[in-house]
Amino acid sequence: MPATSTATTGRHPGSPGDIRIAPSVLAADFGALAEQVGEVASAAEWLHVDVMDGHFVPNLTIGPPVVASLRRHSPLFFDCHLMMTDPGRYLAAFAEAGADGCTVHVEIDGTADLIAQMRRLGLRAGLALNPDTPFDAVAPFLEQIDLVLCMTVFPGFGGQSFMGDVLSKVAEVRAAVDSGSLPVDIEVDGGIDSVTGPKAARAGANVFVAGSAIFGRERPWEAAEDIRRAVLAARS
Ligand code: DX5
Ligand code: ZN
Repeated sequence: MPATSTATTGRHPGSPGDIRIAPSVLAADFGALAEQVGEVASAAEWLHVDVMDGHFVPNLTIGPPVVASLRRHSPLFFDCHLMMTDPGRYLAAFAEAGADGCTVHVEIDGTADLIAQMRRLGLRAGLALNPDTPFDAVAPFLEQIDLVLCMTVFPGFGGQSFMGDVLSKVAEVRAAVDSGSLPVDIEVDGGIDSVTGPKAARAGANVFVAGSAIFGRERPWEAAEDIRRAVLAARS
């Protein structure tokens, strides 16, 4: 277990713009999930939970029952990334299970209704963009949401290579958020490690999802701290 504690906010989301490390459980050992999450608890602020429906992406993962089980074992802020064609059917179940924030993709229909539903349920509301989805798709909603997730790989699988082309869009989101003084976090997800994380930080990201680069390591808490140190250095 980690020797030092640098990052625990409990279920509080933290302040917009603060650096946050969000290990993705997708790369954890699903047979020992609670233990794995416990290993990163003192080195992370958020836990990123990847939900895949087999329609929006060609893969299936987990749903509300697993979130509810993890909730009993972890005080972290649960950041649920819903890679789903019809997330509206499940938002209440995720809220009930203990999700703190949910992020839905802008590539599906009904974005305004989904934001309203997340708000009604008391969830932090996020919108995700695939690598080839332009900033314009999220721009009309920036004042209504808490988080923009810029995918730095095409969603569906862990362990893919970071797509640097996305950084110009991250910079566009950062410019819009800062010029409007909006309380919106900018998250990157896909191929993030202590080399790519700093690049995303320089472009304006402040929440860093990492699966393989954390749970693929023997000491996942050290890996999370390595990413934190690297992104903090990039911002200073
Ligand atoms: C991909 C998921 C990611 C994934 C990232 O569709 O949204 O959260 O877990 O995994 P790595 O960090 O291995 O690219
Ligand atoms: Zn994700």
